[in-house]
Amino acid sequence: MSKLVSRALLVSALVLAGGSAVLADAPPPGPPMMMPPYMLRPEPPTGDRLAPGGDGKVLFEVHCGYCHLLGGMGTNLLTKQRMMMGETPDKGMLANRTDLTADYVKSVVRVGKGAMPAQTRVDVTDAELQAVSKYLGKAG
Ligand code: HEC
Repeated sequence: MSKLVSRALLVSALVLAGGSAVLADAPPPGPPMMMPPYMLRPEPPTGDRLAPGGDGKVLFEVHCGYCHLLGGMGTNLLTKQRMMMGETPDKGMLANRTDLTADYVKSVVRVGKGAMPAQTRVDVTDAELQAVSKYLGKAG
């Protein structure tokens, strides 16, 4: 191999190596990635999951939010159902409903309903469900 060719190969190898390092470090092209709300699960509260008195809104977002926040599959299905009943699309979000009772929420969570799988006491403890159903159960 001539000196010139080997030097050219060396230079292109360095360019390639440098280039790939730049590629690996660079942020993906385009605007910064925005995660839909249902993918942004808040940190679960620390402490005893069996102790009563938790924050129902936070526990709802942690344990139910990946289906019941904006864009979640529960929200999508319920939006269609509510609209077919003549309601506005915002009623697809459980947090916007005023017709749910705490007892109804508890039974749907433990038994499941249609496309919603039953949630076990490992998914949501009784104490957590108590707080969540109080938060959602605006009809009592
Ligand atoms: C894996 C996704 C998923 C999770 C997790 C989930 N749900 Fe659901 N939920 C759904 C879907 C889907 C529906 C609509 C079911 C249908 O009608 O087919 C639904 C329906 C409901 C309904 C019935 C609403 C109505 O109009 O009758 C309630 C109440 C409810 N969910 C509460 C909860 C609560 C509280 C939690 C958390 C403890 C939770 N869900 C967790 C998917 C989920």
